[in-house]
Amino acid sequence: MTETRELFNGFIGGPVYDWVARCTGYGPAFYRRAAMAIPVRPGMTLLDLGCGTASLTLAVADRMDGQGRIIGIDASARQLERAKKKVLSSPVSIELREGSVRELAFEESSVDGICMCQVLHALPDDVRADMLGESSRVLKKDGFFALVDWSRPRIGYAAAVWGPSLLGSRRTHNWQGTYPTVFEAFGLDLSTDVYLDSLNRCQVFVKRSR
Ligand SMILES: C[S@@+](CC[C@H](N)C(=O)[O-])C[C@H]1O[C@@H](n2cnc3c(N)ncnc32)[C@H](O)[C@@H]1O
Repeated sequence: MTETRELFNGFIGGPVYDWVARCTGYGPAFYRRAAMAIPVRPGMTLLDLGCGTASLTLAVADRMDGQGRIIGIDASARQLERAKKKVLSSPVSIELREGSVRELAFEESSVDGICMCQVLHALPDDVRADMLGESSRVLKKDGFFALVDWSRPRIGYAAAVWGPSLLGSRRTHNWQGTYPTVFEAFGLDLSTDVYLDSLNRCQVFVKRSR
């Protein structure tokens, strides 16, 4: 968490993050595509964990017909500073909180959906486990967790740009279909699974009803 906060609180965070993201395949069209793969409904309460500068938050908000509530949580003040400026014009209520994804200050079974984009592959095992435990706790029965993250590369722009940095460490975890097994242990079952481009996949998990 400290390292992450430092990374995104430094030069790479905020406006620079958005610029780099846009140049490397994570522009508005990518986030619109991601939001289309997430089962968003007007009126729902949704968390965006590791929301960064709120690019996905805003794309998801656009699908809510002006009704609902989104809470974005991120460890980096610099990312959130940028996010605050971007969400000003949103028709949906968006609250931004600085904090860790390992502790979610919400009542049990109080949240309809959770989304997380480009965060899970970088979380250490203990943080990942805490985050999934907390997500499962706060989600309502049949609530969803929409995960957008790197997967096994195919031929295309995103894979060409990010492919080399994928090699090694935790970033290859999802190549062999690891995440469904990890989520299952927290009562979250895979419901839909689509590639958004040559590298990123949106997997929607639903909280088991029992
Ligand atoms: C690659 S960025 C993705 C941001 C955003 N989801 C997007 O799609 O643009 C990763 C973000 O996760 C945040 N993050 C990483 N670890 C975190 C943690 N343990 N708790 C909260 N935020 C975290 C970072 O501060 C950073 O903004």
